[in-house]
Amino acid sequence: MAPHSFFVYTFLTFSLSFHGIAALEYRVINVAAATPGGIRFNNKIGNPFTKQIMGTINNYIWSAIFQQNDPSDQKQVDSVNTYIVEFDEAAGIAWGNNNINVSSSYINGLVGDLKWQFTSLMLHEMTHVFQWNGEGTTPSGLIEGIADYTVLRANHTQWGFANPGDGDRWDKGYAVTARFLEYCDGITPAFVAKLNKLMRVTYDVKYFEDLTGKPVDQLWQDYKAKYGH
Ligand SMILES: *[C@@H]1O[C@H](CO)[C@@H](O)[C@H](O)[C@H]1NC(C)=O
Ligand SMILES: *[C@@H]1O[C@H](CO)[C@@H](O)[C@H](O)[C@H]1NC(C)=O
Ligand SMILES: [Zn+2]
Repeated sequence: MAPHSFFVYTFLTFSLSFHGIAALEYRVINVAAATPGGIRFNNKIGNPFTKQIMGTINNYIWSAIFQQNDPSDQKQVDSVNTYIVEFDEAAGIAWGNNNINVSSSYINGLVGDLKWQFTSLMLHEMTHVFQWNGEGTTPSGLIEGIADYTVLRANHTQWGFANPGDGDRWDKGYAVTARFLEYCDGITPAFVAKLNKLMRVTYDVKYFEDLTGKPVDQLWQDYKAKYGH
């Protein structure tokens, strides 16, 4: 884990940007600046911090999560835009090709270390921006599982995150699927990076078998058995 530690990337990002490799532009637009959550964002998190972690997370996703060191493997965008917006459906949502909306009421309701929790959310949402989704054919449970897998790998999970062996379906999504993907990584090193690569154009559940030698249902049974469920 050490060479891929999220904190190592915090420093790497600075040296990469000195060499001008990070050509991507990160933008933060606080549309909710007049609301309590928007004010709190400006006071406690702020645009400079947000832009900095967007770069750090972007490099972390390409290098450690998807292992796309060749730019031709990466999803190409020329900017990523984070909007702070009033909405209540979720903490955050990735939309379009390269946009993230973060809920101002979510920010207003946070207790504890705001920057730390906001970083967890951004690890999840930035993964959506850069992951392959089989041109829209990958099931949402797997999409959400991969986004939470990034949070897990970065050691940025929050209280209540699933434990290994939790859940009753591999494609339940979020932390349950993230824990299962972590298990698959143990069977086939860099499983998630390889799976993501296969999903560039289309999705097939058989990719699990192609990569591990076992169908996904067998993997799930083995996983549950390993943790005594
Ligand atoms: C995100 O917020 C922007 C700016 O307010 C808005 O134009 C866009 O429709 C929102 N997207 C979603 C998916 O809510
Ligand atoms: C993960 O974070 C916790 C605290 O949030 C820390 O105690 C632990 O050492 C970290 N683990 C790794 C592998 O960095
Ligand atoms: Zn998501």
